[in-house]
Amino acid sequence: MERTKEQWSSKFGFIMAAAGSAIGLGNLWKFPYVTGTNGGAVFLIVYIVFLILLGLPILLSELAIGRFAGLDAVNSCNKIGKNWGFVGGIGVVTAFLILGTYSVVGGWVIKYILSSFHIEKMTPEYYVEYLKTSFEPSIYTLIFIILTAVVVLGGVSKGIEKVSSILLPTLFVLFVGLMIYSLTLPNAIEGVKFFLVPNFDGITTFSDFASIAINAMGQVFFSLSLGMGTLITYGSYLPKTENLTKSTATIITLDTIIAIIAGLTILPAVFSIGLEPTSGSGLLFQTLPAVFAKIPAGKIVSFIFFSLILVAALTSSISLLQVIVAWFSNALKLSQKKATLIISGFIAVVSLFSSLSLGVFSDVKFFGMTFFDILSFLSDKIMLPLGGLFISILVGYVWGIKPAANEISNEGKLKFKMEKLYNISIKIIAPVLIVIIFISSII
Ligand code: PHE
Repeated sequence: MERTKEQWSSKFGFIMAAAGSAIGLGNLWKFPYVTGTNGGAVFLIVYIVFLILLGLPILLSELAIGRFAGLDAVNSCNKIGKNWGFVGGIGVVTAFLILGTYSVVGGWVIKYILSSFHIEKMTPEYYVEYLKTSFEPSIYTLIFIILTAVVVLGGVSKGIEKVSSILLPTLFVLFVGLMIYSLTLPNAIEGVKFFLVPNFDGITTFSDFASIAINAMGQVFFSLSLGMGTLITYGSYLPKTENLTKSTATIITLDTIIAIIAGLTILPAVFSIGLEPTSGSGLLFQTLPAVFAKIPAGKIVSFIFFSLILVAALTSSISLLQVIVAWFSNALKLSQKKATLIISGFIAVVSLFSSLSLGVFSDVKFFGMTFFDILSFLSDKIMLPLGGLFISILVGYVWGIKPAANEISNEGKLKFKMEKLYNISIKIIAPVLIVIIFISSII
């Protein structure tokens, strides 16, 4: 199969698109809470160690696979190792699963942007009642999918790259502003302490520590969009001159900075009005509206805040959609446009079921979980780590470190200083760590 002819039009545009994929709901709603409840700085340190041991080598490997093969995730993996296309296939399936929950949450975010100017009505009970209404959440879920599809319809450089290049810098600037505002609220320091001061209280047994490690690993994969072919797909549009090691370091740094800024924005605001942070959707859609209803200029802050979340979610969902579209358009020889329209239709069906499983169908449970919960459990806890494991095996043992290093060093034109560390990480550390953590999470 011939390489794709699509290319990023600039280095900056590629970095914005890739960082845009990484920066998403994972940074904004998961990271602050997970850090706060897993020992604060203790979690942060474990997270950063995993970023270096797992995130760095796997991200670099995905970009290298994609750029070497120049094809969608499935065909790229197939080109690297005969019969290894299933690794990319895991990615395509995972993209479906993640989109099935991401679009639903994206829909709630749109609703909350529009409700910002009467945020005092958005009480914790309102949120629960709202989900039960089923109809409105479904409509907003569809709107989120349409927004995502419109960007992807534009293609790689004219759609994804252009939109990310405008939206991501805006997100950075406005978030820094919000963080400064939040840090100047009374009592803000309590939130900073919750987030950053090491807290060994709940960490006494091995299983406490194991649970921190599981959460940190899951967070690294989800937050960096790893283990599911996003960066293979984005890497396939890269020119042979791009410095992959530098790009990897930049993407990881930007993702981590935004996660920390999110923590320093959300937690001080929550503590300043004497509330405790809740987890996941509760934090964004129940606790924060209560905060916005109380702080000065809360309505405007709410509007800006939820708009930024929508931006972050969109630049991630377009990368998820593109993984599927790139594969589908190759497999059936369809144009990007046709493939986008068909796949978006499928995603709409899955997402509607997922949205309704929190509303009218909330009694329909499998293994005690709603359809929405199943999708998120399968993707975060199972598919992403599994994908990461296979990618490290594919690169370390099937492709081989030498050919991979040759691609990473632009065929010897650049110096690949970390080759030794990369070798050990991808062959031994990453797969062993993933397996250990995976097994202990099942136990
Ligand atoms: N990284 C995104 C986030 O932090 C989620 C995502 C996962 C996007 C996998 C693409 C692929 O929200």
